[in-house]
Amino acid sequence: MRGRAERSPALALRCSRGNGTGHQGPGGQLHDGRDRSRSDGVQCNAIRDPENCTMKEVAQRMFRSDFRFAFFQFLEMVHPKLPRLLGLTPRDRMVQDFLGQVTKDAMAMKQQDAHGDRKDFLQLLMKYSQEEDGDAQDSIITEGVIMGVIASFLSAGLEPVSATVTFAAYELAHNPWVQEKLFNEIQAVKKESGGDIQFDDLKKLHYLDQIVNETLRKYPIAPALARKCTEAFQVPNSKIVIEKGTSLMISTWGLHRDPEYFPEPEKFDPERFSEKNLDKIVPGTYLPFGEGPRFCIAQRLALMDVKTMLVTLVSDYTLHPCANTVKRFKMDVHYFTLSPDGEVRLRLKKRN
Ligand code: HEM
Repeated sequence: MRGRAERSPALALRCSRGNGTGHQGPGGQLHDGRDRSRSDGVQCNAIRDPENCTMKEVAQRMFRSDFRFAFFQFLEMVHPKLPRLLGLTPRDRMVQDFLGQVTKDAMAMKQQDAHGDRKDFLQLLMKYSQEEDGDAQDSIITEGVIMGVIASFLSAGLEPVSATVTFAAYELAHNPWVQEKLFNEIQAVKKESGGDIQFDDLKKLHYLDQIVNETLRKYPIAPALARKCTEAFQVPNSKIVIEKGTSLMISTWGLHRDPEYFPEPEKFDPERFSEKNLDKIVPGTYLPFGEGPRFCIAQRLALMDVKTMLVTLVSDYTLHPCANTVKRFKMDVHYFTLSPDGEVRLRLKKRN
């Protein structure tokens, strides 16, 4: 975990971003102490040398909702093919070039490694691409598609996990009784399992599950979901009809913070998700991973990541607000996912 190495360290969970000086941003500062090999088998140096990691800069740029991106989205809403017909791309050239190069390098590396049998995501995509027969023009899994998939996994995968852990750590620091209850639960499960928390043990951590659910309620990483109406719909108790074909933005932020569905929405209360309260949640009002056929494809991976990080953190440290902790989050309006604006600093004390 990155932080200051003083006796009572203050952990900068996230730093100011977007000033081009290599400060931390999406992809986050909070990590599990390893440089992990990503799902495409490429080593990322974000941990050992974060200040000079191009991957991190790319991830930052991918989340920036600048004029170019907004204009691209506007045209896409007019007609999905329009921006591309006009030769526009949603991302700037640096991001496009980097992703193209990473994809090419990773594929070349795998082709050279004829005996490698890593069953990672890129390997699968390349296998399907090779299996496609017939005219190359009919191919579906082209290099461009593989690049797009890598880009979407990068953008969809890095920031939400980092932001969720940041928000959860902030709430734990401000709710010490919640933190202690979680610590006790972790200790109990560790005792039962003989010391370590393995993948299957995560399922036994019910209170942790409640905490993560409540974090995603209060801080829905995708504050709005984009949808297109497929059949005319009369809004209940109103004269409004949403016509077929209408593009819609559904505010998860609004739903998750509506006191009608979640009383005292500002309160961080994991009990909302306790077994006895679960059926009070009105279907369709809690959508942290979306809904329907386009819901987050990596929900289980994401939850495992977030929970593993929280278990590691809370097992070894107690979290506290410090003089530099913001009283209230301001969200960064330049990002289209929910991200705190600026630093989130907490004090960590090593448990005995
Ligand atoms: C706490 C972490 C995460 C949250 C809260 C989250 C949330 C979401 C949400 C709300 C959507 C849109 C769903 C919809 O429109 O109905 C989405 C889509 C997606 N997510 Fe996640 N996500 C998380 C982590 C991840 C990770 C780790 C990955 C990949 C490694 C990932 C990959 C994707 C992809 C590829 C999509 C697009 C799916 C599609 O359009 O069919 N997400 N996610």
